Amino acid sequence: MTIRFPDPSSRSAALFERAKRVFPGGSTRGQTYMRPYMIYAREAKGCRITDVDGVERLDFINNFTTQFHGHSHPAIVAALQSQATKGTGFNFASESEIELAELIQPRAKSFERIRFCSTGTEAVMHAIKAARALTGRTKIAKCEGVYHGAYDYAEISLDPDPQAWGHDDPSSVGFTKGAVESIRDDVVMVPFNDVVTTRRVLEKHKGQLAAFVLDAVPTRCGGAPVTPAYASLVRDYTRKDGALMILDEVVTFRLGLGGAQTLYGITPDITTLGKIIGGGLPVGALAGTSAAMTAFDQTNGKAAVPQSGTFTANPLTMAAGIASMMLVTKDALARLNALGVKARAAVSEAFRAAGVTAQVLGEGSLIVITFAKEPPENYRDVYRANAAGGAQAMEELCKRLLNHGVFWSNTGLGCLSTPMGEAEIDELGVAMLASLRAMKTDGLERLFP
Ligand SMILES: Cc1ncc(COP(=O)(O)O)c(C=O)c1O
Repeated sequence: MTIRFPDPSSRSAALFERAKRVFPGGSTRGQTYMRPYMIYAREAKGCRITDVDGVERLDFINNFTTQFHGHSHPAIVAALQSQATKGTGFNFASESEIELAELIQPRAKSFERIRFCSTGTEAVMHAIKAARALTGRTKIAKCEGVYHGAYDYAEISLDPDPQAWGHDDPSSVGFTKGAVESIRDDVVMVPFNDVVTTRRVLEKHKGQLAAFVLDAVPTRCGGAPVTPAYASLVRDYTRKDGALMILDEVVTFRLGLGGAQTLYGITPDITTLGKIIGGGLPVGALAGTSAAMTAFDQTNGKAAVPQSGTFTANPLTMAAGIASMMLVTKDALARLNALGVKARAAVSEAFRAAGVTAQVLGEGSLIVITFAKEPPENYRDVYRANAAGGAQAMEELCKRLLNHGVFWSNTGLGCLSTPMGEAEIDELGVAMLASLRAMKTDGLERLFP
């Protein structure tokens, strides 16, 4: 099937017109929004996704990294089918929640106790609440431009522009219109991987921080990992200052058996998890030291943070999560991470062959493309590159990739799933080269760095 995108006569285009009558702007999820219309999925199997017009593509988005095993993995389907016949939600606890926690707990030494919730956003929110409850302080620190979900405090300074950057240290800026001004004072902003500035900023808030929230491979900073010096600074400073270190592994848990922390030797107080641990169903979790996780302990009356939720540890998610995590083995991770090295090389080679400059970074099975002359190191580097044409170049590249059989995110992020092998990476390289050449033919060279 060779329907081209965009095609006003396609079924996706017609569905988008229909969607406009029920959703504001036609969309109910920011991430799926696409111009001039959104593509609607019909089904997905393995590493391929087919839209309602019958066009099949290789899926390098994998629902923003949740689909570690691709789509409709037989073991996950069987687990869901079996659980669906036994009930999909009760107000009893279920054995499956213990089983999934037992599969996660041994993977990192900081995972002494675990709590489930329904999204990564909630996990970050509850981790921050726990840090505040335990320290009696309100301020948190985070890196400028880094995404930690939609909790008001976590999304401060998600996309500040140069006017808001300040002359010296990063300043805290609301993300949504109407963001409560006062919460900005409680969110301390630091630049990712900049040890000197971060230490100086943290010192200004000495004795006031409840937690530092860190992502070890923040894709919005271009995909480079945290440096050992930066990870040590955050760990040592928070420990000395009586604050908690929260490591956001909602995405990076797919990098190693115990996520980024086991790869880079980081020992946080609380880790936030999500995505792959739910086997494709909505999920979030907190895993932390026994001391930190006492914030959620209700055995002696009301917990400091009485974290709950109607869908927390729901049996369908637990069933899919168990099936998924049993397959996230050392071998599966090693194979997928090795394939990640090949994928980054194939994408880099396509750019080289097309004569287009870009930076291809990322770790493990994550691939991050930035149209930039130099490897980006932080949010501001990515911002500058995007503002100079990179964001538009990425959007145009993704549109052309769609017509060469590849689904890639216009954020620049791509990721692999276990049904993929070398053949799919070859396909990616061919599609990437053809798409970049098509951009040149279409006169879009002005967008390149
Ligand atoms: C690093 C990170 N933290 C938290 C979240 C929020 O997770 P969720 O979308 O499940 O709320 C995301 C989502 O992409 C994320 O990438």
